[in-house]
Amino acid sequence: MDFANILNSGVSRRRFMKGALAGAGAVAASSHFNIAEALAAGKKASDIRGYGVPAGRVQISSNENPLGASPRAVEAITKHLHEINRYSFSFDLPLKLHQAHGINMGEDFKIDFEDMASFMKFREVNRIMVSAGSGPILQVLGVMAIGDGTGECIEAVPGYGQISRAFQGYQMSGQNVKVIRVPTTGDFTHDLDAMKAAVTPKTTIMTITNPNNPTGTIIPYDTLKTFVESIPEHVTILIDEAYIHFVREEGYQDAISLALERNNVVVTRTFSKIYGLAGMRIGYAITNRPLLDRMMLQQGFGGGLTSLSTHAAAAALDDHEFVAMTRKVTNDGKDYLIAEFDKMGLEYTPSHGNFMIVNIGRDSRRMSTEMRKRGVSIRSGGGYRTREHNLLNNHIRVSIGKPDELEVFISELKDILGKAS
Ligand SMILES: Cc1ncc(COP(=O)(O)O)c(C=O)c1O
Repeated sequence: MDFANILNSGVSRRRFMKGALAGAGAVAASSHFNIAEALAAGKKASDIRGYGVPAGRVQISSNENPLGASPRAVEAITKHLHEINRYSFSFDLPLKLHQAHGINMGEDFKIDFEDMASFMKFREVNRIMVSAGSGPILQVLGVMAIGDGTGECIEAVPGYGQISRAFQGYQMSGQNVKVIRVPTTGDFTHDLDAMKAAVTPKTTIMTITNPNNPTGTIIPYDTLKTFVESIPEHVTILIDEAYIHFVREEGYQDAISLALERNNVVVTRTFSKIYGLAGMRIGYAITNRPLLDRMMLQQGFGGGLTSLSTHAAAAALDDHEFVAMTRKVTNDGKDYLIAEFDKMGLEYTPSHGNFMIVNIGRDSRRMSTEMRKRGVSIRSGGGYRTREHNLLNNHIRVSIGKPDELEVFISELKDILGKAS
């Protein structure tokens, strides 16, 4: 995979074409001019060859990694293919994750297959639950939050909303649970005061997605810490850090220490985004012992993991080069979109995720349909509406794709909005 080429393609090529055109004033034959103009007008989806999607499709709707999977993960999958007749009993990944997050399992702790005591010790010191994606972990937490059948959940809107949706499902099966959706503030950040004010003795769970999806906003660590400390212990606080690797702030502190210090905080992470393993289905939770024991029981045997996904994730953890490249492509992509949105006079929210929301000033679902017809898949903000709130009706969410994919998106957006120059 030639990353330098990926980075340099697209945008610069278009500039080159425009430059070439400017110098072509002497070209009399209008047919030549028309051909060149058509090329300079930008690529179409049919020109695109994205990783992991059919040729001709620009898929920037699900916040996946546009560079493919971590090459180290792919190598690990190939290496262990012949072992899939066995269940996945490996402790490698949880041990490696503890190490990666600096979680102390005790001096020289190791799993010894001939010593049953080491497995008991593992249970005592373990702080991580690995699962087939972080989505299933949210599902486990949702089930636990039903409580006595009258549990209440608090989530921000617009937000990822998985616990709210699970609660709606429990309501449909006769539970008396309640969903409280708290609108974000004017700049689309969590309204922490309002979320705190919504807590009742029946509240069982509250979600903070940080950075938030779909808005890309973050909460400063100190603010988050103070907030968490102010919430009563009967409320489980889920801090979903699916996009934490993309935060654009030097030295930004994650919430793992809060999960380890307190008995009511769970931090979730995923391999689907920065490591490019969405299709392998692997994620994990970090939390303290009382919650972890309950979550493990609820999750059941193996958490739906496959041996290949655990090997892939363990290898991806070491792929610092791929992580750095993904960050670079993401940041460059965001800068490109910001520059183009500015030129078009569109209002956007600077994002700490691998996606960005932009106000297109018209119905986002129609825009999404029109884009799809042109081979570009984006997410409509209208999809985040609830009965009471529709804050993103005129916004779309765009995942950061490769430069050429973003160029096609911008070209089609300009054309649809009548802003093509
Ligand atoms: C905020 C957030 N949490 C969790 C998930 C689920 O991710 P996965 O199940 O692939 O780990 C997603 C997926 O897009 C997400 O955006």
